[in-house]
Amino acid sequence: MTETLPRLDQRLKAVASQIRCRVHADIGSDHAHLIRAMLAAGRIEYGIAIENKRQPFLNSQTTLAGCEAEVRFADGLDGLQSGEADGLSICGMGGRSVVGILSAHPDRVPPLVVIQPNRDVDRVRQWGIESGYHLVDETIAVGHWPYEILRFERADIDRDPAYDGLDREAALMFGPHMIRRWRTDFVERLKAELAYLEALDQLTDVAAKRRDVIERLLA
Ligand SMILES: C[S@@+](CC[C@H](N)C(=O)[O-])C[C@H]1O[C@@H](n2cnc3c(N)ncnc32)[C@H](O)[C@@H]1O
Repeated sequence: MTETLPRLDQRLKAVASQIRCRVHADIGSDHAHLIRAMLAAGRIEYGIAIENKRQPFLNSQTTLAGCEAEVRFADGLDGLQSGEADGLSICGMGGRSVVGILSAHPDRVPPLVVIQPNRDVDRVRQWGIESGYHLVDETIAVGHWPYEILRFERADIDRDPAYDGLDREAALMFGPHMIRRWRTDFVERLKAELAYLEALDQLTDVAAKRRDVIERLLA
C-alpha cells in the first residue's frame, strides 16, 4: 500500500481506495499528493488538479510535474468542462463549501464523486439525495479525528436505496451504511459522543439534536 500510494496519510489513502477511473479531477488539490499517488498506483490514467489559491496551485504544479496530469487555477467546477472527467474528489473542506462547489455547475459533476468533508457531512449526504447521486459506500479513516469519506455514483433512479427503512435524520447525520453495518468502533464513537453531550451544562440546538438522534439509535 505504501509503495503504490506514496506520501498519503490514512485519510487520503482511504479516499484513494474509493477511486478507480480514467480521468479524475481533484478540487482543492493543495499539495496534489492524492492525484500523484493515484497515478502511481494506476488508479487513474489522467489527473486534473484544481486550485483557487496561488501557493497551493504552485505546490500542485511542483508535485505533478512530468505526470499525466494538469493543474488549473480556477474556482471549483469553473475549472472543469462537462464530460471531461469520470471522477471527482473534494477533500478537507467543510460540507457547506463542498455543496456550494457541486451546486454551482451540476452539469459538470462527473458520475463518480468522492467527498471527505471536515464537518456538516449531513449536508453532503443531502446533496446526493437532491442531485441524483446515490451514496454507495462510506468509510471512516482515523487520523487527528475520525474522517468520514463518502462515495457517490450518479444514478438513473431518484430514490437512493441506501436510506430505505432507516430513520432519515439519523442516516443523514451518521450515515446509512454506518448504521446498517453497526460496527463496534462506530457504536463506541456514538456512545462516547452521547456521554460527552450529556455531561455538558447547556446544549446548542444542533448538539441537542445530535444527542436525541444518538439516543434513538442506541435505544
Ligand atoms: C484544507 S485544504 C485540503 C487539501 C487536500 N484536498 C487535502 O485534503 O489534503 C483545502 C484546499 O482547497 C482549496 N480550495 C478551497 N476552495 C476552493 C475552490 N472553490 N476551488 C478550488 N480550490 C479551493 C484551498 O486553496 C486549499 O488548498
